[in-house]
Amino acid sequence: MKNILVIGSTGQIGSELTMKLRREIDGGTVVAGYIPGSEPKGELLSSGPSEIADVRDGAALAHIVGKYKIDTIYNLAALLSAVAEKKPLMAWDIQMNGLINILEVARENTCAVFTPSSIGSFGLDTPHKNTPQDTLQRPRTMYGVTKVATELLSDYYFFKYGVDTRAVRFPGLISHVTLPGGGTTDYAVEIFYAAVKGEEFVCPIKPGTYMDMMYMPDALRAAVEIMQADPQRLRHRNAFNIASMSFEPEQLAAKIKEYIPTFKMRYEIDPVRQAIAESWPDNMDDSCAREEWGWYPAYDLDATAVDMIAALRQKLL
Ligand code: SER
Repeated sequence: MKNILVIGSTGQIGSELTMKLRREIDGGTVVAGYIPGSEPKGELLSSGPSEIADVRDGAALAHIVGKYKIDTIYNLAALLSAVAEKKPLMAWDIQMNGLINILEVARENTCAVFTPSSIGSFGLDTPHKNTPQDTLQRPRTMYGVTKVATELLSDYYFFKYGVDTRAVRFPGLISHVTLPGGGTTDYAVEIFYAAVKGEEFVCPIKPGTYMDMMYMPDALRAAVEIMQADPQRLRHRNAFNIASMSFEPEQLAAKIKEYIPTFKMRYEIDPVRQAIAESWPDNMDDSCAREEWGWYPAYDLDATAVDMIAALRQKLL
């Protein structure tokens, strides 16, 4: 992994992953791919090249891959779960037609490809506790449908053409840099913004609803380490369960109150997000990732809360 294209470089994951790769990968180029309307700014813009990289335009992707001799593509373009329910055809277009464009470019140019899957790839029939690596995946959301198909299509390109596709199933991601857009787990980010600003938080998810969550530094390290893993050890590829913490809204609120005692939360349930949340695992079993490429999480809920609150105080106050 030397010359890297990050598609979706201004999004929640991409904005931080692009900077991490630029800091950590020696002697290569990390291209920030974006779509018009979400141009890179600040350090993301000044620290390396950027290019318009719309996944729906395969010819443009091929041009960028040739121009920078790209060997690895991080494909982070996606509509998240709640917004994908509002725009299912657009979600399909970006997540599926976009993916096949990327995989074709990768096949023709021998690139490795990382396209994340998600807790959203599971459904109501999946065992919710210690969700196994290999289990039933019958989601009923468009986001979930595209994520299962992403796993299958990525594996297909590996088995049929030898394209080096690998990925993880991300939990809900918590970060203080770029807000997520339209996911079911977004509440676990928004709650910190409200708490630090001294505002009451209106929680859209019912008490008692557990979901896997992860602090962004762990997620970024996973995205890098899976692509650097020894391929001989990988029995799975698309995509590995990874986990670090699972909580329900009451537990998160109680944790925040330890550091911001005046914090208040009330509930106004969003039925769309609630139904999605209930179809997802309570907590995933990540033992395959641990065994096959040495995955481990560094941040639990307490460490996440401490870091989030400190960073958001710097950013917002
Ligand atoms: N965070 C995503 C969502 O809530 C799940 O991967 O849609």
